[in-house]
Amino acid sequence: MPEPIPNLEEIQELDRAHVIHPINEFRKHEVRGAKIFTGGRGVELTLGDGRTLLDGFSGLFNINVGHGRTEIADAVAAQMRQLAYYPSFWDFGNEPAARLAERVVNLLPADRGLRHVLFHTSGSEANEANFRFARMYHAVRGKPGKTRIVSRRWSYHGATRGAGSATGIPFYHLLNETDPSHLHVAPPYCYRCEFGKTHPGCGLPCADDLEQTLRREGPDTVAAFLVEPVMGTGGIVVPPPDYFDEIAAICRRHDVLLILDEVITAFGRTGRWFGMEHWDVHPDLVSLAKGISSGYLPLSASVVSDRVYETLRDGMPDGLPLMFGLTYNNHPACCAAGLANLDILEREGLVENARKVGGYLLERLRKTFGESPIAGDIRGIGMLAAIEIVRDRETREPFPNLADPAWIAHAAFDRGLIVRALFQCVALAPPLCATTADIDRMVGVLEQLWPEAERSILAAGAGT
Ligand SMILES: Cc1ncc(COP(=O)(O)O)c(C=O)c1O
Repeated sequence: MPEPIPNLEEIQELDRAHVIHPINEFRKHEVRGAKIFTGGRGVELTLGDGRTLLDGFSGLFNINVGHGRTEIADAVAAQMRQLAYYPSFWDFGNEPAARLAERVVNLLPADRGLRHVLFHTSGSEANEANFRFARMYHAVRGKPGKTRIVSRRWSYHGATRGAGSATGIPFYHLLNETDPSHLHVAPPYCYRCEFGKTHPGCGLPCADDLEQTLRREGPDTVAAFLVEPVMGTGGIVVPPPDYFDEIAAICRRHDVLLILDEVITAFGRTGRWFGMEHWDVHPDLVSLAKGISSGYLPLSASVVSDRVYETLRDGMPDGLPLMFGLTYNNHPACCAAGLANLDILEREGLVENARKVGGYLLERLRKTFGESPIAGDIRGIGMLAAIEIVRDRETREPFPNLADPAWIAHAAFDRGLIVRALFQCVALAPPLCATTADIDRMVGVLEQLWPEAERSILAAGAGT
């Protein structure tokens, strides 16, 4: 076990006094303080008090290559020594951005015509820029009224004004008014179908909800439909096989662009390089982040299809540049981290590993918890898996208390495993370098606490 750090209390005190933590309650934070992480190797993390933990969630679905990859640190340090930063506005450029753009384009499926890249530092920014590209695309074609963004209930797209408004999870909107021009439609969440139907044979009323919404609101007001290939934060929701064909046809029919938010799903997370490869879906714009740099430095990207790029290139008035830019677009050190990260993913075959070991994870979860009275649905794809916690497996009645899955996540933490409560689900997303032995250790921790979870959750749920 690693040594505890000597100044832990001081750090916790400074943190308690001055650091604001996302998705945490101020009052509770002042009482509990923060858990201070001090190191990581592979799928393991160390805490300041000397404890070791298994990272069953890759940070925030993002540390695809695992912790402690010194070759990324070396690549970033070398780039920083040579040129830490210079803007890429106007006609200024740098080598890592050019090389990484080419690498990403060559990894994307060749038949989708996705060949133009703008790097940023967060997934929210990638979505915001794609909203702009979509609106500009329509504007230069004489349709400036097509500005609204449609997304799905239970989707997560980020926290900035536009991306936050596109997010379809109601909790994120509490005390925070969203942009009312955004529209939300039904998700392809078969386990809890909003229409009470069962796939196959349902006729995809969730896709039809997009059609009806566009007709009702007027397709001439809508710029784009934004979708995660697999919903992440909303509970690892994998769409049925015919869903993407249907929504792509609706988008085409109404001249609405399709934006794929691959912030979680790209760079191997689903067992393919990109989530879109599971279906024959041809997006107009793609948002990438997280696994592009595995979190070693902040990095994201908007990928623009040839069709949108050429329309903008040919349609923008002479003398009017792209009037959008962030100081850290195409950041050389961040792109150097991205290149070293892709080297590891490729060299170690981690996309293939995610497919194989992820399959093992899902099988292990189903074998271990498949009969549990609180495990309503166990689902996943690649290195993404979730157990949906219910009060009654027959009726699929959810627990009214969202704290129940959180109870499991806290109990797992105390036993040395980080998993995440995603509303009604307990979810795992281990680093793509995880082995089947790592998965056994992770599932083993859940197995230990599960009888108590069943007892306490069923007792708490009784009579509510
Ligand atoms: C699908 C998806 N899109 C966008 C985002 C926003 O990314 P960021 O937090 O880097 O702004 C996230 C973050 O979790 C995400 O899961």
